[in-house]
Amino acid sequence: MRPAGQFGTALRCVRCGSTCEPSASLYVCTCGGNLLVEYDLAAARGALTRKSLAASSDHTLWRYLPLLPVSHRLEGPPVGWTPMVEAAPLARELGVQSLWIKDDGRNPSASFKDRASSVALQRARELGHPLVTGASTGNAASATAVLCAAIGMKARIFVPKTAPRAKIAQLLTFGAEVLAVDGTYDQAFDLCLEATRRFGWYNRNTGYNPYTREGKKTVSFEILEQLGWTVPDLVVVPVGDGNILTGVWKGFVEAKQLGLVDRTPRLLAVQAEGSAAIVQALRGDGTIRPVSGDTVADSISVSLPRDGEAAVQAVRASDGFAVTVSDQAILQAILQVARGAGVFAEPAAAASWAGLKAAKAQELIRPEWKIVSLNTGNGLKDVASAMKVAGEPKVILPDPEVLEKLFGA
Ligand SMILES: Cc1ncc(COP(=O)(O)O)c(C=O)c1O
Ligand SMILES: [Zn+2]
Repeated sequence: MRPAGQFGTALRCVRCGSTCEPSASLYVCTCGGNLLVEYDLAAARGALTRKSLAASSDHTLWRYLPLLPVSHRLEGPPVGWTPMVEAAPLARELGVQSLWIKDDGRNPSASFKDRASSVALQRARELGHPLVTGASTGNAASATAVLCAAIGMKARIFVPKTAPRAKIAQLLTFGAEVLAVDGTYDQAFDLCLEATRRFGWYNRNTGYNPYTREGKKTVSFEILEQLGWTVPDLVVVPVGDGNILTGVWKGFVEAKQLGLVDRTPRLLAVQAEGSAAIVQALRGDGTIRPVSGDTVADSISVSLPRDGEAAVQAVRASDGFAVTVSDQAILQAILQVARGAGVFAEPAAAASWAGLKAAKAQELIRPEWKIVSLNTGNGLKDVASAMKVAGEPKVILPDPEVLEKLFGA
């Protein structure tokens, strides 16, 4: 079975490099490594050009269908083609030429994960699965629930019971069956894998299902197109499992291989101090070792990153770098991004800006750079965290005298 789609050829292991034929139940290589979808890019060159894209009226991620491992688009709410928000005040503060925030909080379920779920769900449909399962810190699950509702597919979701209420509210509202695990994300992940093995459900887990990365890579095509095919110098990615980062990198590499651009950007991987297995691997021997996973940024709270191996490879291949940020810096960044760019970020997403400031303090940022920072999740996903730093409003009596006292001469 081919990976489907017009130009898919095979799956290649990030660990041992061997290629294998996709099958309905194949997720990872026999060696345990994650799999990358390969395409016949020489053949795809003619199908995806600057000209064909300029003529496309499809303003969703499905404009890149020839480079996706499915035959048809998923119907339902439009995903992708999110705005690039130019953040001049933040660029000035950073001392760089320009900074854009790619606001993926504007997707239907309010996070970047809609990209991944779109492609994974379409894949599940094309394989004839009536039910999708997944473990998630919350956003991948919400994305799955929203899109499943739109297409009438069943979603069975495992989340840590501590996931922010808004994410759990999304799951329940959109009709997913929610199993709130009294444990960590990593434990929910393993339980979901076990369920998949036992019952044969279609699994969309991040860093396990090879097709989530394919949805994620579309953000890079969009960034290039929306910048008029200017390649940014640096792209900033908040990192938990590392799958967004590997998707972003794959997108830029494929855009170059297709001849759409002639170079790729550096990647900046940002992790929370207590959840920094990938940064530690990059600073050490490249091997991923589990960490506590403690951070206020629930979406990047991961003990053992499931796409860590590929993420380490991607940061290195991009000639990029990685930083860690404290929870305090993440929370402050929520305010700074809101006030400096008009974008509301959940803690994990705000980590991008905190990471840029940390990178500047370490003199890793050059003034001539054009930078794109991913806003991976909307701040309304986790209002409790924003309120920790935003403060409380003044409570007043409905009395005009109060107005005089507050604002009168
Ligand atoms: C808002 C947000 N940012 C960043 C990430 C990190 O993505 P990954 O786990 O693929 O590294 C996630 C993953 O859930 C997320 O929801
Ligand atoms: Zn392998």
